[in-house]
Parts: sequence; C-alpha cells; structure tokens
Amino acid sequence: MVTSAMCEARAGSALTRMYFGLRKPKWPILGTNFSGEIEAVGSSVVEFQVGDRVSGVNVTNFGAYAEYVVVQEDGVIAAKPGNLSDEEAVAVFDGSITALPFLRDGARLRSGQSILINGASGAVGTAAMQLAKRYGATVTAVCSTSNVALVTSLGADHVIDYTRRDYTDTYDTYDTYDVIFDAVAKSSFTRSRRALKRD
Ligand SMILES: NC(=O)c1ccc[n+]([C@@H]2O[C@H](COP(=O)([O-])OP(=O)(O)OC[C@H]3O[C@@H](n4cnc5c(N)ncnc54)[C@H](OP(=O)(O)O)[C@@H]3O)[C@@H](O)[C@H]2O)c1
Repeated sequence: MVTSAMCEARAGSALTRMYFGLRKPKWPILGTNFSGEIEAVGSSVVEFQVGDRVSGVNVTNFGAYAEYVVVQEDGVIAAKPGNLSDEEAVAVFDGSITALPFLRDGARLRSGQSILINGASGAVGTAAMQLAKRYGATVTAVCSTSNVALVTSLGADHVIDYTRRDYTDTYDTYDTYDVIFDAVAKSSFTRSRRALKRD
C-alpha cells in the first residue's frame, strides 16, 4: 500500500533524506504495509505457517512494495481477519500503529477526557478518532467540508470545518481540551496550547 509517509520519503526533502539516505536510498524498495500469504517460514517460527493469510507493517526494513517480503515473527504481523480483503486489511495498520502510541503512551488518554484531532479525516486521524472513542474520550474532529460526514460516521462528538474556522481562533474554544492531537502537522503549537485546559 502506498501511504502518505512513503510519498514523503520518495519526494526526498532534506529532512527525509537524513533518514532514507543522503546520497542514495538506504532501502532501494520502499513500502511498509503488506497483506498476503505466507510462502515460507524459518525453522524456529512457531506462530505462523505456510499458507496463512497475514497482514502487517515492515516498520524498519521497508520493501513491502515488492512481491515478496521478509518479516520477523515478532514484528508487526497478524492473522488477517477472514472478512477483510487484502486491500481492506492493509489499510488498517498505517494510521492505527502511528496514532496508538501517541494517544495511549504519550497523552495517556482516558475516559471522560476531551480530545481535539486535527486532520481527523486522514489515515492517522480516522484511526485516532476510533481509538479515542474506544478510550471513552469526547472527540472534536477537524477536517474539511467534504469529510464532515465521514468523521461524523466514525463517531465524532463535535466537528470543526477548518475551511470555515480555525479551532484556535474563537475565544470560546479556549481552555477546552485535555489533549490536542495534530495528525497532520498543520497547526501552531503556541496557538493550540491556548485551547488546552489548564495544567
Ligand atoms: N511512521 C510514520 O512516520 C508515519 C506514518 C503515517 C503517517 N505519517 C505522517 O503523518 C501525516 C498524516 O498522514 P496520513 O496518512 O494521515 O495522511 P492522509 O491520509 O493523506 O491525510 C491527510 C489529512 O490532512 C488533512 N488536512 C489537510 N490540510 C489540513 C489543514 N490545514 N488542517 C487540518 N487538516 C488538514 C486532510 O483533511 P481533508 O481531506 O478533510 O482536507 C487529510 O485528511 C503525514 O505527514 C504522514 O507522513 C507518518
């Protein structure tokens, strides 16, 4: 699957080159997310066997654009639910494994808290929304007009259309959120901080 992160890697900005290679690519084949059938297993592998349908993310080795990919047994790999196609299963991981550590370990989001998610309609944002609802938080989703219906269908309690209103602009939004998660790096840290609850 082609993700926005892989597009940014391929675009080769100065920042991404620091990681992906200054003079030539460290990993000639990109791609993180995969879904398919196990073709062979190492002699000490016990969790999986040939023929299993699996999906996952090759977080550090990339190479998932290729027809075959080598994955560690204890890596990000799981049995593919039978009711999902490969195309559907592969789309689940990227946003969710990116959002999960921020919400669970960074923000330590818990029931009763309020969270604003900027970029709520993207891969990371839609996963963050569903995780936040699962944690019992009240979710304010920020997206464009055409995605208001999408984020509402995923359970947003409030929606802010960023083409009509900047969530940091209005005085009544100040002192409002326990957590602000900007999934797309499109906000100002200083301005966002004013919309956070005290302490
Ligand atoms: N492991 C990693 O390092 C990793 C993994 C995944 C993602 N990422 C990074 O995380 C970022 C998000 O990725 P993604 O896959 O979620 O991207 P995506 O699916 O392409 O979604 C991007 C979202 O940004 C929203 N957006 C655009 N301009 C905005 C604005 N001014 N204010 C608020 N929202 C705005 C769009 O919403 P509308 O369509 O509603 O306008 C769109 O839904 C990317 O920079 C990506 O590289 C990193």
